[in-house]
Amino acid sequence: MPNWITFNKKLKKFNETISVSGDKSISIRWVLLASLANGISTAKNLLLSEDVYAAIKAIKSLGVKVSLKKNKCKIYGLGIKGYKYKKNITIDAKNSGTLGRLLLGLLIDAKFPIKLIGDESLSKRDFSRVTEPLKKLGVKIKTNKNLLPVIIYGSNTLKPINYLEKKGSAQCKSSMMLAALKASGVSKIKAKKSRDHTERMFKNLKIPINLKSKKNYDIIKIKNIKQYDAFDYIIPGDISSAAFFIVLTALSDNSELLIKNVNINPSRTGIISILKKMGVKIIFKNIRNYKGEKNADIKIKSPKKLKAINCPAKLNSGAIDEFLSIFLVAAKAQGISYFKNLSELNQKESPRLIWGQKILNNMGIKTVVTNDSIKIYGNPDLKINKKIVIKNYLKDHRVFMTSVIAALSFGGLWKIYDKDSILTSFPMFLKLVNKISK
Ligand code: S3P
Repeated sequence: MPNWITFNKKLKKFNETISVSGDKSISIRWVLLASLANGISTAKNLLLSEDVYAAIKAIKSLGVKVSLKKNKCKIYGLGIKGYKYKKNITIDAKNSGTLGRLLLGLLIDAKFPIKLIGDESLSKRDFSRVTEPLKKLGVKIKTNKNLLPVIIYGSNTLKPINYLEKKGSAQCKSSMMLAALKASGVSKIKAKKSRDHTERMFKNLKIPINLKSKKNYDIIKIKNIKQYDAFDYIIPGDISSAAFFIVLTALSDNSELLIKNVNINPSRTGIISILKKMGVKIIFKNIRNYKGEKNADIKIKSPKKLKAINCPAKLNSGAIDEFLSIFLVAAKAQGISYFKNLSELNQKESPRLIWGQKILNNMGIKTVVTNDSIKIYGNPDLKINKKIVIKNYLKDHRVFMTSVIAALSFGGLWKIYDKDSILTSFPMFLKLVNKISK
């Protein structure tokens, strides 16, 4: 089977109901926290993607028993300090920054050196953002010039954490929160606001955590504890996966889409706020609370016209994984859109600000890009009549899926490489595209 896909026509109007797969951030956090719980935890609708399989393999190599039948997963937790460390363990985080960075926080009590590796994309991403603060707890860590492979030498005399996180990275914050479970005393983390699934899970597990908000920062105090109980979880749909279909509807004419059971944690709904400002009609239906998170069905209607946006930077962190597809909406909007303070976008699976520009320029849309911003000159009448080839050398799943949505929305002849990249986060993506294109 070739690892590329072609498209040569625009999608017709549609009126569909779909469900997307389980949330990746919540799935990985559940796997890691269940591995430290006391007893057997069960999850339903766990995301079955390469990033989550890598998380399961990682905890297995630390002695944790896991059983997986379809998307029902059982994890036999070993307790907070129960990992069975052996000599010569190498853990492959594959494509997942979340797994690699969060896991390092859990390896601070390793009895032997553990080596962390990843795929070509992860091997280009900065790890000093977690290794430097973790070193302050008293562990020795070697990196390859701040990159993978990382070797962590744990310690059994761990100091409490006092950490200031300024990037708005949930991965850094969560890595330190997990480390706080194993460190001594009370840890204090001041972190620029970012997704807060870890905080919500800690509360749900009754881990003693104190949260305060100060301007754009969260102040988190965590007392280390001896144990917490196993916990079951039904993982809700991933808004970052739903995003591709939300954008597809925003770019279509006379169409409607209902996406069932999606997590709408306010730290993840930046895309909804941004698209609403651009004129897209989106409503949440059946909002319900589940274990400290909010889930809902999302209804989207194609808009009559799209307005350009000067995107407030405070919406960035809640939409950080969705900007590539948001840029497509700006490409069709009336006027010039501006997105700023986005240097973190170039720290993702591939440099996404640059790839956003590449996709748009290929489509004939003018952009002006700096190292942390993009101006997009929208064209409401955009129709593509040429051939476009997209091949992201780092096989970034979101570059692939964004390109597919562009092909379906604007027409033209597209050849998009690295179809397999969807296996990292959203293996059923193309099946859902087929369902809507029928
Ligand atoms: C994630 C945090 C974000 C996000 C990533 C998942 C998480 O990254 O881009 O896809 O699950 O904590 P950063 O924390 O590096 O900003």
